[in-house]
Amino acid sequence: MSTSPIVRHIGILTSGGDSPGMNAAIRATVRCAAVNGIRTTGILGGYNGLVGDHTRPLGPRDVSNTIQRGGTILRSARSEDFRTAEGRSKAAATMRKHGMDALVAIGGDGTFTGANVLFKEHGTRVIGIPGTIDNDLAGTDMTVGYDTAINTAVEAIDRIRDTASSHDRLFFVEVMGRDTGFIALACAVAGGAEFVLVPERLEHIEELVTALGKASGTKSSSIVIVAEGEQEGGAFDVARKVKQHMPAADIRVSVIGHIQRGGAPSVQDRLLASRLGVAAVDGLLAGTHDAMAGVINGQVQYTPFDKAIGKRKTLDADLFRVLSILAT
Ligand code: F6P
Repeated sequence: MSTSPIVRHIGILTSGGDSPGMNAAIRATVRCAAVNGIRTTGILGGYNGLVGDHTRPLGPRDVSNTIQRGGTILRSARSEDFRTAEGRSKAAATMRKHGMDALVAIGGDGTFTGANVLFKEHGTRVIGIPGTIDNDLAGTDMTVGYDTAINTAVEAIDRIRDTASSHDRLFFVEVMGRDTGFIALACAVAGGAEFVLVPERLEHIEELVTALGKASGTKSSSIVIVAEGEQEGGAFDVARKVKQHMPAADIRVSVIGHIQRGGAPSVQDRLLASRLGVAAVDGLLAGTHDAMAGVINGQVQYTPFDKAIGKRKTLDADLFRVLSILAT
Protein backbone atom coordinates (compact mmCIF):
# COMPACT_ATOMS: atom_id res chain seq x y z
CA MET A 1 0.00 0.00 0.00
CA SER A 2 1.15 3.57 -0.61
CA THR A 3 -0.29 7.06 -0.81
CA SER A 4 -1.15 8.38 -4.25
CA PRO A 5 -4.66 9.74 -4.03
CA ILE A 6 -5.15 11.25 -7.52
CA VAL A 7 -7.90 9.18 -9.07
CA ARG A 8 -9.77 10.52 -12.06
CA HIS A 9 -10.66 7.42 -14.00
CA ILE A 10 -11.07 3.84 -12.80
CA GLY A 11 -11.52 0.60 -14.67
CA ILE A 12 -13.73 -2.12 -13.22
CA LEU A 13 -13.86 -5.82 -14.04
CA THR A 14 -15.30 -9.09 -12.77
CA SER A 15 -13.10 -12.16 -13.02
CA GLY A 16 -13.18 -15.87 -12.18
CA GLY A 17 -16.43 -17.68 -11.39
CA ASP A 18 -19.35 -15.24 -11.29
CA SER A 19 -21.26 -14.79 -8.06
CA PRO A 20 -24.64 -13.28 -7.17
CA GLY A 21 -24.09 -9.68 -6.07
CA MET A 22 -21.31 -8.84 -8.51
CA ASN A 23 -23.68 -6.45 -10.29
CA ALA A 24 -24.56 -4.76 -7.01
CA ALA A 25 -20.82 -4.25 -6.41
CA ILE A 26 -20.34 -2.79 -9.91
CA ARG A 27 -23.31 -0.48 -9.40
CA ALA A 28 -22.03 0.76 -6.04
CA THR A 29 -18.52 1.35 -7.39
CA VAL A 30 -19.76 3.26 -10.44
CA ARG A 31 -22.13 5.45 -8.44
CA CYS A 32 -19.63 6.18 -5.67
CA ALA A 33 -17.04 7.04 -8.30
CA ALA A 34 -19.48 9.42 -10.03
CA VAL A 35 -20.32 11.14 -6.74
CA ASN A 36 -16.58 11.81 -6.37
CA GLY A 37 -16.22 13.10 -9.94
CA ILE A 38 -14.40 9.95 -11.12
CA ARG A 39 -15.09 8.36 -14.51
CA THR A 40 -15.60 4.59 -14.68
CA THR A 41 -14.90 2.28 -17.57
CA GLY A 42 -16.20 -1.28 -17.55
CA ILE A 43 -13.77 -3.94 -18.77
CA LEU A 44 -15.53 -6.81 -20.50
CA GLY A 45 -14.82 -10.50 -19.87
CA GLY A 46 -12.44 -10.19 -16.92
CA TYR A 47 -8.72 -9.72 -17.52
CA ASN A 48 -9.24 -10.84 -21.14
CA GLY A 49 -10.96 -7.51 -21.69
CA LEU A 50 -7.93 -5.64 -20.41
CA VAL A 51 -5.53 -7.70 -22.51
CA GLY A 52 -7.66 -7.32 -25.65
CA ASP A 53 -8.95 -3.79 -24.94
CA HIS A 54 -12.68 -4.58 -24.72
CA THR A 55 -14.25 -1.83 -22.67
CA ARG A 56 -17.34 0.33 -22.33
CA PRO A 57 -17.97 3.53 -20.38
CA LEU A 58 -20.15 3.08 -17.30
CA GLY A 59 -22.13 5.96 -15.83
CA PRO A 60 -24.60 5.92 -12.96
CA ARG A 61 -27.58 5.24 -15.28
CA ASP A 62 -25.79 2.37 -17.05
CA VAL A 63 -26.02 0.37 -13.83
CA SER A 64 -29.73 1.03 -13.25
CA ASN A 65 -31.87 -2.06 -12.73
CA THR A 66 -28.88 -4.27 -11.92
CA ILE A 67 -28.86 -4.57 -8.12
CA GLN A 68 -31.26 -7.52 -8.26
CA ARG A 69 -29.61 -9.34 -11.18
CA GLY A 70 -27.41 -12.42 -10.80
CA GLY A 71 -24.35 -13.04 -12.98
CA THR A 72 -22.27 -10.09 -14.09
CA ILE A 73 -23.19 -7.45 -16.66
CA LEU A 74 -19.45 -7.14 -17.44
CA ARG A 75 -19.14 -10.89 -18.04
CA SER A 76 -16.33 -12.93 -16.56
CA ALA A 77 -13.55 -15.35 -17.46
CA ARG A 78 -10.53 -17.16 -16.11
CA SER A 79 -7.97 -15.54 -18.40
CA GLU A 80 -5.08 -17.66 -19.67
CA ASP A 81 -3.51 -14.67 -21.47
CA PHE A 82 -3.29 -12.67 -18.27
CA ARG A 83 -1.20 -15.45 -16.71
CA THR A 84 1.63 -14.51 -19.07
CA ALA A 85 3.95 -11.50 -18.66
CA GLU A 86 3.13 -10.49 -22.24
CA GLY A 87 -0.60 -10.53 -21.49
CA ARG A 88 -0.11 -8.40 -18.40
CA SER A 89 1.97 -5.88 -20.39
CA LYS A 90 -0.92 -5.58 -22.86
CA ALA A 91 -3.33 -5.13 -19.94
CA ALA A 92 -1.21 -2.32 -18.48
CA ALA A 93 -0.98 -0.72 -21.94
CA THR A 94 -4.79 -0.76 -22.24
CA MET A 95 -5.06 1.06 -18.94
CA ARG A 96 -2.51 3.66 -20.05
CA LYS A 97 -4.25 4.11 -23.41
CA HIS A 98 -7.57 4.91 -21.72
CA GLY A 99 -5.97 6.99 -18.99
CA MET A 100 -7.21 4.73 -16.20
CA ASP A 101 -5.35 5.47 -12.97
CA ALA A 102 -6.71 2.51 -11.00
CA LEU A 103 -8.65 -0.70 -11.26
CA VAL A 104 -11.41 -2.27 -9.17
CA ALA A 105 -11.26 -6.06 -9.55
CA ILE A 106 -14.18 -8.15 -8.32
CA GLY A 107 -13.43 -11.86 -7.91
CA GLY A 108 -11.66 -14.49 -5.85
CA ASP A 109 -8.12 -15.59 -5.09
CA GLY A 110 -7.13 -16.01 -8.77
CA THR A 111 -8.35 -12.48 -9.51
CA PHE A 112 -6.32 -11.01 -6.66
CA THR A 113 -3.24 -13.06 -7.45
CA GLY A 114 -3.35 -11.50 -10.93
CA ALA A 115 -3.93 -8.01 -9.52
CA ASN A 116 -1.01 -8.41 -7.15
CA VAL A 117 1.34 -9.39 -9.99
CA LEU A 118 0.06 -6.51 -12.14
CA PHE A 119 0.93 -4.09 -9.34
CA LYS A 120 4.38 -5.61 -8.85
CA GLU A 121 5.22 -5.58 -12.57
CA HIS A 122 3.53 -2.38 -13.72
CA GLY A 123 2.67 -0.42 -10.56
CA THR A 124 -1.04 -0.66 -11.42
CA ARG A 125 -3.17 0.41 -8.50
CA VAL A 126 -5.85 -2.20 -7.88
CA ILE A 127 -8.39 -2.61 -5.14
CA GLY A 128 -10.29 -5.86 -4.83
CA ILE A 129 -13.85 -6.73 -3.88
CA PRO A 130 -14.31 -10.36 -2.80
CA GLY A 131 -16.82 -11.85 -5.24
CA THR A 132 -16.98 -15.63 -5.06
CA ILE A 133 -19.54 -18.11 -3.78
CA ASP A 134 -16.74 -20.07 -2.07
CA ASN A 135 -16.23 -17.70 0.92
CA ASP A 136 -12.60 -18.78 1.10
CA LEU A 137 -10.85 -15.40 1.28
CA ALA A 138 -9.12 -14.19 4.41
CA GLY A 139 -9.85 -10.51 5.11
CA THR A 140 -13.64 -10.70 5.02
CA ASP A 141 -16.19 -12.64 7.05
CA MET A 142 -18.29 -13.24 3.95
CA THR A 143 -17.61 -12.97 0.25
CA VAL A 144 -20.21 -11.51 -2.13
CA GLY A 145 -22.34 -14.39 -3.43
CA TYR A 146 -21.79 -16.88 -0.63
CA ASP A 147 -25.03 -16.13 1.20
CA THR A 148 -27.12 -16.47 -1.95
CA ALA A 149 -25.34 -19.68 -2.95
CA ILE A 150 -25.91 -21.41 0.40
CA ASN A 151 -29.54 -20.32 0.46
CA THR A 152 -30.04 -21.70 -3.04
CA ALA A 153 -28.33 -24.97 -2.14
CA VAL A 154 -30.28 -25.39 1.11
CA GLU A 155 -33.53 -24.80 -0.75
CA ALA A 156 -32.55 -27.65 -3.08
CA ILE A 157 -31.54 -29.87 -0.14
CA ASP A 158 -34.94 -29.26 1.51
CA ARG A 159 -36.59 -30.54 -1.66
CA ILE A 160 -34.32 -33.57 -1.77
CA ARG A 161 -35.23 -34.31 1.85
CA ASP A 162 -38.91 -34.56 0.87
CA THR A 163 -38.24 -37.27 -1.66
CA ALA A 164 -35.51 -38.95 0.42
CA SER A 165 -37.85 -39.43 3.36
CA SER A 166 -40.74 -40.53 1.15
CA HIS A 167 -38.60 -43.35 -0.28
CA ASP A 168 -36.38 -44.16 2.74
CA ARG A 169 -33.29 -43.29 0.72
CA LEU A 170 -29.71 -42.32 1.40
CA PHE A 171 -28.82 -39.24 -0.65
CA PHE A 172 -25.39 -37.87 -1.48
CA VAL A 173 -25.76 -34.22 -2.44
CA GLU A 174 -22.78 -32.55 -4.08
CA VAL A 175 -22.33 -28.82 -3.65
CA MET A 176 -19.66 -26.52 -5.09
CA GLY A 177 -16.25 -26.01 -3.52
CA ARG A 178 -13.28 -27.34 -5.44
CA ASP A 179 -10.77 -26.30 -2.78
CA THR A 180 -12.85 -25.40 0.25
CA GLY A 181 -15.82 -26.68 2.22
CA PHE A 182 -17.47 -23.47 3.41
CA ILE A 183 -20.54 -24.05 1.25
CA ALA A 184 -20.73 -27.73 2.16
CA LEU A 185 -20.42 -27.23 5.91
CA ALA A 186 -23.01 -24.44 6.04
CA CYS A 187 -25.40 -26.48 3.89
CA ALA A 188 -24.91 -29.57 6.03
CA VAL A 189 -25.82 -27.77 9.25
CA ALA A 190 -28.61 -25.62 7.77
CA GLY A 191 -29.97 -28.47 5.64
CA GLY A 192 -30.07 -30.93 8.57
CA ALA A 193 -27.69 -33.42 6.97
CA GLU A 194 -26.13 -36.42 8.71
CA PHE A 195 -22.57 -35.96 7.49
CA VAL A 196 -20.35 -33.66 5.46
CA LEU A 197 -17.26 -34.30 3.36
CA VAL A 198 -14.97 -31.34 2.62
CA PRO A 199 -11.61 -30.94 0.85
CA GLU A 200 -9.90 -29.74 4.04
CA ARG A 201 -10.51 -32.97 6.00
CA LEU A 202 -9.68 -36.50 5.05
CA GLU A 203 -12.63 -38.64 6.20
CA HIS A 204 -12.38 -42.35 5.68
CA ILE A 205 -15.28 -44.07 4.01
CA GLU A 206 -15.34 -46.46 6.98
CA GLU A 207 -16.08 -43.56 9.35
CA LEU A 208 -18.87 -42.38 7.11
CA VAL A 209 -20.29 -45.89 6.89
CA THR A 210 -20.17 -46.25 10.68
CA ALA A 211 -21.98 -42.93 11.13
CA LEU A 212 -24.58 -43.86 8.53
CA GLY A 213 -24.98 -47.30 10.09
CA LYS A 214 -25.74 -45.68 13.45
CA ALA A 215 -28.19 -43.27 11.84
CA SER A 216 -29.99 -46.08 10.00
CA GLY A 217 -30.90 -47.63 13.37
CA THR A 218 -33.28 -44.76 14.09
CA LYS A 219 -33.74 -42.98 10.77
CA SER A 220 -35.22 -44.20 7.52
CA SER A 221 -33.46 -41.65 5.30
CA SER A 222 -30.20 -39.72 5.44
CA ILE A 223 -28.45 -36.92 3.58
CA VAL A 224 -24.70 -36.55 3.17
CA ILE A 225 -23.36 -33.25 1.80
CA VAL A 226 -20.27 -33.68 -0.38
CA ALA A 227 -18.11 -30.75 -1.46
CA GLU A 228 -17.07 -31.28 -5.09
CA GLY A 229 -13.37 -31.17 -4.17
CA GLU A 230 -13.44 -33.58 -1.21
CA GLN A 231 -10.75 -36.21 -1.19
CA GLU A 232 -12.73 -39.34 -2.12
CA GLY A 233 -13.49 -38.09 -5.64
CA GLY A 234 -16.91 -36.41 -5.42
CA ALA A 235 -20.43 -37.56 -4.66
CA PHE A 236 -20.67 -40.34 -7.26
CA ASP A 237 -17.42 -41.97 -6.09
CA VAL A 238 -18.38 -41.67 -2.44
CA ALA A 239 -21.80 -43.19 -3.16
CA ARG A 240 -20.20 -46.09 -5.05
CA LYS A 241 -17.78 -46.80 -2.20
CA VAL A 242 -20.49 -46.60 0.46
CA LYS A 243 -22.70 -48.96 -1.55
CA GLN A 244 -19.98 -51.62 -1.30
CA HIS A 245 -20.26 -51.45 2.49
CA MET A 246 -24.04 -51.01 2.60
CA PRO A 247 -25.44 -53.10 -0.27
CA ALA A 248 -28.99 -52.89 1.03
CA ALA A 249 -29.05 -49.08 1.08
CA ASP A 250 -31.20 -47.39 -1.55
CA ILE A 251 -28.73 -44.71 -2.66
CA ARG A 252 -29.18 -41.70 -4.92
CA VAL A 253 -26.81 -38.89 -5.92
CA SER A 254 -27.76 -35.32 -6.71
CA VAL A 255 -25.27 -32.72 -7.96
CA ILE A 256 -26.56 -29.19 -7.46
CA GLY A 257 -23.81 -27.63 -9.59
CA HIS A 258 -23.99 -24.22 -11.21
CA ILE A 259 -27.54 -23.57 -10.01
CA GLN A 260 -25.74 -22.31 -6.87
CA ARG A 261 -23.98 -19.60 -8.86
CA GLY A 262 -27.03 -18.04 -10.50
CA GLY A 263 -30.10 -16.14 -9.41
CA ALA A 264 -30.95 -12.88 -7.70
CA PRO A 265 -28.60 -11.97 -4.87
CA SER A 266 -29.92 -12.19 -1.31
CA VAL A 267 -30.41 -9.04 0.75
CA GLN A 268 -27.23 -9.91 2.66
CA ASP A 269 -25.23 -10.10 -0.58
CA ARG A 270 -26.72 -6.85 -1.92
CA LEU A 271 -25.83 -5.06 1.31
CA LEU A 272 -22.30 -6.44 1.38
CA ALA A 273 -21.69 -5.68 -2.30
CA SER A 274 -23.06 -2.16 -1.96
CA ARG A 275 -20.86 -1.45 1.04
CA LEU A 276 -17.77 -2.87 -0.59
CA GLY A 277 -18.31 -0.99 -3.88
CA VAL A 278 -18.32 2.26 -1.92
CA ALA A 279 -15.38 1.04 0.19
CA ALA A 280 -13.36 0.31 -2.96
CA VAL A 281 -13.66 3.91 -4.16
CA ASP A 282 -13.16 5.32 -0.65
CA GLY A 283 -10.02 3.20 -0.35
CA LEU A 284 -8.56 4.36 -3.66
CA LEU A 285 -9.23 7.99 -2.74
CA ALA A 286 -7.48 7.44 0.58
CA GLY A 287 -4.43 6.00 -1.19
CA THR A 288 -5.10 2.32 -0.49
CA HIS A 289 -4.39 -0.19 -3.24
CA ASP A 290 -2.95 -3.66 -3.80
CA ALA A 291 -5.52 -4.66 -1.18
CA MET A 292 -8.97 -6.19 -0.85
CA ALA A 293 -11.89 -4.43 0.83
CA GLY A 294 -13.81 -6.69 3.19
CA VAL A 295 -16.14 -6.57 6.17
CA ILE A 296 -14.87 -8.07 9.41
CA ASN A 297 -17.09 -7.98 12.51
CA GLY A 298 -19.30 -5.39 10.83
CA GLN A 299 -16.45 -3.02 9.93
CA VAL A 300 -14.93 -2.32 6.52
CA GLN A 301 -11.27 -3.31 6.48
CA TYR A 302 -8.59 -3.42 3.79
CA THR A 303 -6.34 -6.47 3.65
CA PRO A 304 -3.23 -6.47 1.43
CA PHE A 305 -3.62 -8.95 -1.45
CA ASP A 306 -0.57 -10.86 -0.21
CA LYS A 307 -2.40 -11.62 3.03
CA ALA A 308 -5.87 -12.14 1.55
CA ILE A 309 -4.63 -14.79 -0.86
CA GLY A 310 -1.66 -16.11 1.11
CA LYS A 311 -3.48 -16.93 4.32
CA ARG A 312 -6.01 -19.70 4.03
CA LYS A 313 -9.31 -19.08 5.78
CA THR A 314 -10.15 -22.08 7.93
CA LEU A 315 -13.46 -23.80 8.47
CA ASP A 316 -15.08 -23.33 11.86
CA ALA A 317 -14.24 -26.54 13.74
CA ASP A 318 -17.15 -25.95 16.09
CA LEU A 319 -19.62 -26.22 13.20
CA PHE A 320 -18.46 -29.81 12.62
CA ARG A 321 -19.18 -30.53 16.29
CA VAL A 322 -22.60 -28.87 16.00
CA LEU A 323 -23.36 -30.97 12.94
CA SER A 324 -22.39 -34.22 14.65
CA ILE A 325 -24.56 -33.39 17.68
CA LEU A 326 -27.56 -32.40 15.59
CA ALA A 327 -27.24 -35.44 13.33
CA THR A 328 -27.93 -37.82 16.25
O1 F6P B 1 -14.83 -20.53 -7.49
C1 F6P B 1 -16.20 -20.61 -7.62
C2 F6P B 1 -16.61 -21.97 -8.14
O2 F6P B 1 -18.01 -21.96 -8.30
C3 F6P B 1 -16.16 -23.16 -7.31
O3 F6P B 1 -16.97 -23.44 -6.21
C4 F6P B 1 -16.21 -24.24 -8.35
O4 F6P B 1 -15.33 -25.28 -8.00
C5 F6P B 1 -15.73 -23.56 -9.60
O5 F6P B 1 -16.04 -22.19 -9.42
C6 F6P B 1 -16.36 -24.04 -10.87
O6 F6P B 1 -15.80 -23.33 -11.92
P1 F6P B 1 -16.31 -23.38 -13.41
O7 F6P B 1 -17.62 -22.64 -13.48
O8 F6P B 1 -15.23 -22.71 -14.18
O9 F6P B 1 -16.50 -24.82 -13.76
